[in-house]
Amino acid sequence: MTIRFDGRVAVVTGAGGGLGREHALALAARGAKVVVNDLGAAVDGSGGATAAALAVVEQIRAAGGEAIASGASVTDAAAVQAMVDETLKTWGRIDILVNNAGILRDKSFAKMDLADFRLVVEVHLMGAVHCCKAVWDVMRAQNYGRIVMTTSSSGLYGNFGQANYGAAKMALVGLMQTLSLEGAKNNIRVNCLAPTAATRMTESLMPEAVLALLRPEAVTPGLLALVADDAPTRAILCAGAGAFERAHITLTEGVFVGLPDDAAEQVVHGWDAISDRAGETVPDSGVAQGSLETAKALRARA
Ligand SMILES: NC(=O)c1ccc[n+]([C@@H]2O[C@H](COP(=O)([O-])OP(=O)(O)OC[C@H]3O[C@@H](n4cnc5c(N)ncnc54)[C@H](O)[C@@H]3O)[C@@H](O)[C@H]2O)c1
Repeated sequence: MTIRFDGRVAVVTGAGGGLGREHALALAARGAKVVVNDLGAAVDGSGGATAAALAVVEQIRAAGGEAIASGASVTDAAAVQAMVDETLKTWGRIDILVNNAGILRDKSFAKMDLADFRLVVEVHLMGAVHCCKAVWDVMRAQNYGRIVMTTSSSGLYGNFGQANYGAAKMALVGLMQTLSLEGAKNNIRVNCLAPTAATRMTESLMPEAVLALLRPEAVTPGLLALVADDAPTRAILCAGAGAFERAHITLTEGVFVGLPDDAAEQVVHGWDAISDRAGETVPDSGVAQGSLETAKALRARA
């Protein structure tokens, strides 16, 4: 069945260019009313103008869709709240939030100063927190919400020179894990998207032939699936070049050691067994780890 968003209202942050722009255009093309948010920042987060967001709004309107622009910085909780208030005044609801705004301040950790670390965390993590917080009660009252956090392979797996970015991006996975649990009873589904795309953010990082495969619009179908009516929840979808994968935070079965004097040595000697992925699970919540551990301890005692 064709995925449609008629009657739905979507907020896409950082939608003045790159991936966010493609997400906004695709949502609008399938019937959503879209808030195109973008501070108009340079790739390092400096500067700011809403021209980029306005251009995307114009493009949506020219194609017969409905859109409004927002120049709010996601780092400014009051400005984000004002954007949400304005959206509610205009369209009366908010069904979809795509946390996409982002910046880079890449340096090896040895050379990175704390200000560059804090700013990256502020934009990616706190920016998403501000937006989620501002729409959360709206979505709860509607008993409907779809939220996507834009994470990254840099967070999931690490990347040289991106300690700040990777930490912020993995923090978004943690935010998703808990919001998906807390939102479940109100039909709020929360997922992560880990894109790979040729944008100004990555243009200096990859060779031309690779960049040609990584068109941003090849990621957007994954985003649409994560915000559709029958979206999953608590998923980490990886997407690039039209290819899609899932990442999981897994837990191995592990071993029981107990508290003998040589417990540390047993952990070292048992490393292969602790690491053995046979029978590993994707826990439903953090409680599963403690349950697994106490069950093993009780079994050992019996
Ligand atoms: N391109 C990739 O391969 C890749 C990989 C992993 C993750 N991502 C993530 O995807 C998202 C989109 O990145 P992109 O590659 O399209 O880069 P991009 O630089 O084209 O897009 C980011 C947008 O966010 C906007 N922005 C920055 N700070 C903002 C703020 N404080 N408030 C509102 N808007 C702000 C920028 O103006 C820009 O338009 C980012 O979160 C990025 O970290 C991208």
